[in-house]
Amino acid sequence: MSSLSSRHLLGLYEVPKEDVQLILDTAKTFREVLERPIKKVPTLQGKTILNLFYENSTRTRLSFELAEKRLSADTMNFTKSGSSASKGESFKDTVQNIEAMKVDMIIVRHESAGIPKYLTQISDANIINAGDGRHEHPTQALLDMYSIREKTGKLEGLKVCIVGDIGHSRVALSNIYGLQTMGAEVSVCGPSTMIPWQLESLGVKIYNNIDKAMAENDVLNVLRIQLERDAGELIPSVREYHNYFGITTERIAKNNPDILIMHPGPINRGVELSSEVADGTSQIILNQVTNGVAIRMAVLYLLGTKTE
Ligand code: CP
Repeated sequence: MSSLSSRHLLGLYEVPKEDVQLILDTAKTFREVLERPIKKVPTLQGKTILNLFYENSTRTRLSFELAEKRLSADTMNFTKSGSSASKGESFKDTVQNIEAMKVDMIIVRHESAGIPKYLTQISDANIINAGDGRHEHPTQALLDMYSIREKTGKLEGLKVCIVGDIGHSRVALSNIYGLQTMGAEVSVCGPSTMIPWQLESLGVKIYNNIDKAMAENDVLNVLRIQLERDAGELIPSVREYHNYFGITTERIAKNNPDILIMHPGPINRGVELSSEVADGTSQIILNQVTNGVAIRMAVLYLLGTKTE
């Protein structure tokens, strides 16, 4: 049986194509399980999984929890609010105290980049990065790639443009690494203040004109403007941003009626996407969410049953 090359999933940087392919193909099997009347398999029975969330989340936290339950694992949920972190307990002490209860896998979201890697040094569990600062969010990129492949039938040769607040985004970096590994042509589009210049050295084309980006790409993965991370300081106003970069039905009709619109969520309606686009026929936003459960089942299964 094929297995992943690492016992952790910290990001998609330098993850081999065979690993990405294996995760996507395994997710397809689990996607079928999710359509059955009984959506549960006994694969991870007896395993204990900790969801360690130091930052807010709706989709990632709930879909990991559901994926763990679908695989029959025992789950523990930690969120920073309501925990003893408010009494000054350190991250390391928190993790080691919870791990003393015997935990096999840890899913971690944290505002600091590098925390998942640090966890591999202080814990014996399999570690999965559920988003670390502005660094990576590998399962989001995997579910994005799965959703693109499901809709278009391929990744190789496809032109995918990531739009918006690129500099603050961990979704952007994981998508760039993953899509390039799978042979897609990746570009970004947004105001210059939101695009790190180093991206060019990764072979990523940069657009500052959304109409041109739409005309020249097959897929737009539209990112949230991260106002909680001071993105407001990088643009004159959200209204101005929407005028220059917002995706509207008019822009779709004018530039590329066949374009596929994606968004990892949460959406700022009327900023990145008009409400008509967010609810319209060009987007696959809720398919992405459904596929997220299957992707997370695949990652948990492949890491949880890895032998060496
Ligand atoms: N896409 C995503 O990571 O959403 P959440 O922050 O709700 O998990």
